[in-house]
Amino acid sequence: MKFIKSLILIIFFIGIVLSQSFPCPFYRSLSLSSPVLSGGDIYILQNLLTRTKGLENLSLSSNFDSDTEMALGKFQSLNNLKSTGVLDVETANLLLELNSADGYKDNGQIPPGFLYKVHIPVYKNRSIETTATLYDADLNVLLQFTVRTHGQNNNATGLAQNEFCNSGNTPTGLMTFDLNSPEPDPTDFGPYPINRAVQGIAGNAFIIISNIRDGILMHTGEWPDWNPTLPMPNSHGCVHGHPTDIDAVQTILTEKLGIQIRNNTFTAVPYLHQPQGILSIELIE
Ligand SMILES: *[C@@H]1O[C@H](CO)[C@@H](O)[C@H](O)[C@H]1NC(C)=O
Ligand SMILES: *[C@@H]1O[C@H](CO)[C@@H](O)[C@H](O)[C@H]1NC(C)=O
Ligand SMILES: *[C@@H]1O[C@H](CO)[C@@H](O)[C@H](O)[C@H]1NC(C)=O
Ligand SMILES: *[C@@H]1O[C@H](CO)[C@@H](O)[C@H](O)[C@H]1NC(C)=O
Repeated sequence: MKFIKSLILIIFFIGIVLSQSFPCPFYRSLSLSSPVLSGGDIYILQNLLTRTKGLENLSLSSNFDSDTEMALGKFQSLNNLKSTGVLDVETANLLLELNSADGYKDNGQIPPGFLYKVHIPVYKNRSIETTATLYDADLNVLLQFTVRTHGQNNNATGLAQNEFCNSGNTPTGLMTFDLNSPEPDPTDFGPYPINRAVQGIAGNAFIIISNIRDGILMHTGEWPDWNPTLPMPNSHGCVHGHPTDIDAVQTILTEKLGIQIRNNTFTAVPYLHQPQGILSIELIE
């Protein structure tokens, strides 16, 4: 009896701890203080706040200044939370729920100067694999292939981590893309040249790539216990493709389009090459 009482108490306290922990990318309470707080979490906060009507002009300073406090207070009052101007767990959860979708839509074009484009539609439920399309600069379809854009789950809740988390889902939006020599670990990344998302241009990618998240690649793997009839494993934010498809992509890029394989410098910044391609990822549901 005593044991069961203790167990119930423990479960109760775990519940409180879980319900009170910040959802990533947030990890701390944010408020106006002296010295002024700054960081990537505040940059993301400001970007998400600008998606609320009336807060579009909030400056993206990465500093928790009085404008940010005011905008946060307004977001809270608009959504029936106590208007404190302080980022607490409840406000962080609601902001992510309401303002994470970037509304980015692929425009069916390729910006001038790029030699290829990969377009990927994604569902909110990233466990559903989708079909990517590889285009040349004239938007001819060169390949269609299955991809998975599901990142790591939260260990505590078992739920998918969002696009702003370090190992979460692949971010949506438009970004530059480039062919790099293979990663050194074929088990996790496959033996073929990989494509690297270099710089975000629009949508959530614009907010986080590559100043907050880097190492977003399109690759395959020699995954243990996997075969092509199975769903691919979750990534740490990368786009996963089947080995035959990732091989086909690099073959088409190099042999058909004359794309160069850049020396892979991993996550080093600044990126030393002019990216040759474009990656466009849009939420369709
Ligand atoms: C935002 O700035 C633009 C341009 O300065 C201005 O026209 C608009 O009224 C501002 N919007 C808000 C909500 O302050
Ligand atoms: C997400 O998709 C997977 C794969 O189709 C499915 O098994 C799962 O039930 C879906 N989850 C939700 C919450 O719909
Ligand atoms: C989840 O657990 C794994 C394995 O223990 C660990 O490597 C990883 O860092 C954890 N992830 C988070 C977000 O805590
Ligand atoms: C590739 O980059 C690495 C690290 O910067 C460098 O050591 C190596 O010489 C480079 N290889 C080529 C072929 O340029």
